[in-house]
Amino acid sequence: MRRAVFPGSFDPLTNGHLDILQRSAPLFDEIVIAILNNPEKHPMFSVEERCEMIEECLASISTDHCNMQVDSFSGLTVDFARAKGATAIIRGIRAVSDYEYELRMALMNRRLDPAIETVFLMADEEYSYVSSTLMKQVFELGGRVEGLIPELVESRMREKKS
Ligand code: PNS
Repeated sequence: MRRAVFPGSFDPLTNGHLDILQRSAPLFDEIVIAILNNPEKHPMFSVEERCEMIEECLASISTDHCNMQVDSFSGLTVDFARAKGATAIIRGIRAVSDYEYELRMALMNRRLDPAIETVFLMADEEYSYVSSTLMKQVFELGGRVEGLIPELVESRMREKKS
């Protein structure tokens, strides 16, 4: 059983995240999408809201025979991964600018648990500049984000704003 975790803040889920999940599906039997519970970051959406949105959005992608679940965690990603019986951590890389941070995190995670491997996947280039932070910022300022985040997420963002 090849099981991986895909950790992140997902505040909110973007089409870049969905693209990475779609690309990961043929590589694993199970993927646990792991939402970091980090209230200090003052997220736009609660963990429960993010969890529900991700579950709904998963229906829009082809997951092959890969079973995808959504969960949340606090503490170290490697501890969560180990508790779930996962042997891989999936991370998406968009541009060279992501590499340094991701490399540091992957090496630290490897040091913390050498049995868990980080797997980097490249999102489609059309999402190379898409981040949750940028999407929230542009949306808050009235800019267009269609096609970059799922429609469901966009409508939940609109509800938050009203
Ligand atoms: O979506 P993000 O914000 O880029 O995700 C970052 C995340 C959640 C993967 C990272 O902050 C993380 O793993 N946090 C949990 C704490 C941890 O394990 N830290 C050590 C990693 S070096």
